[in-house]
Amino acid sequence: MLAFPEHVKPIMLFAILLPVIPTSVALWLLSRSVPQKVLNKIQEISTRVEDDQGKGRIDTQDIPKEIMPFVNSINRLLNYHRNRHQQERDFTAHASHELRTPLAGILLQTEIALATNDPQKRENALKNVVKSITRATRLVEQLLAISRLNNEKNDLAKEHVDLLSLFKRATKDQITTAQQKGIELTFNAQSESIFIEANEDSLYILADNLIRNALTFTPSFGRVEVCVSLNTEGTTALLKVKDSGPGIPHHMRERVMQRFEKGDTGSKSGTGLGLFIVKRIADLHDGDVFLRDNEDGKGLMVVVCLPQITGIQL
Ligand SMILES: Nc1ncnc2c1ncn2[C@@H]1O[C@H](COP(=O)(O)OP(=O)(O)OP(=O)(O)O)[C@@H](O)[C@H]1O
Ligand SMILES: [Mg+2]
Repeated sequence: MLAFPEHVKPIMLFAILLPVIPTSVALWLLSRSVPQKVLNKIQEISTRVEDDQGKGRIDTQDIPKEIMPFVNSINRLLNYHRNRHQQERDFTAHASHELRTPLAGILLQTEIALATNDPQKRENALKNVVKSITRATRLVEQLLAISRLNNEKNDLAKEHVDLLSLFKRATKDQITTAQQKGIELTFNAQSESIFIEANEDSLYILADNLIRNALTFTPSFGRVEVCVSLNTEGTTALLKVKDSGPGIPHHMRERVMQRFEKGDTGSKSGTGLGLFIVKRIADLHDGDVFLRDNEDGKGLMVVVCLPQITGIQL
């Protein structure tokens, strides 16, 4: 053990107590300046908040006016968390309900296939099984995308991404689907490359959702065009996906951006999550999404604005 000379001991004791002194003085001053009634009330409020478990709000009826702003802000916080909690519950309930439909279809159609001796009937039933599995898989993929975006909300890993080659790849990946419907799918770009700070995987998901929508809702032998350009100031990249389909009526445009909203033209196989995901990804890149009439008057044009350009090659 270390032995200190007697005269050093009081100095050491003072050094140890030094950090505690301001807090003690503040508490002493507080207890003198804040009436005991108010302190008791704060104590009571903290018990109420603990008991409340996020269900309700603190009753403001007998709250002293000195601490009213404090209580109001706690109520706002409780309210915010209650709403968030409710939204999460609604989302889970909705997702489970959406998943139940294809699962019930798989069960029913498999039973039909097993019970019949008619080869044609069996084939039809099995085709329906494939449709339901595709629908369930799509839903799970979309839910996973949302879950990843939620997790990475504040910390989306961004890198130097060439938008042009990324969106070109997303377009190419849909060529077979386009050919199956006899749709003319084209890609146009103003420059050779546009680099931005972005998360490549999520921007691929964004483009993929928009091109899929255009191909899904455009009738056979229509046209879908994917264009990448810059705004007139050259500060923002613009991704436009144009189609010759039925479009979306003006009054529905805000609604279809919300989760699980399928709109009037909604396909039975869709989950209603695509545009919600697109908007979320654009937001995470400080961008925006607009639904417009197609420039030639027929069909829809979705415009995604993406700032943070770091390089252009014309
Ligand atoms: N290009 C389009 N043309 C016409 N209607 C569209 C188009 N894109 C989207 N919509 C409408 O908006 C709705 C929402 O689209 P969204 O992509 O969010 O969901 P979805 O395509 O139904 O399902 P998924 O989650 O599988 O993409 C669609 O159901 C459809 O009614
Ligand atoms: Mg979609």
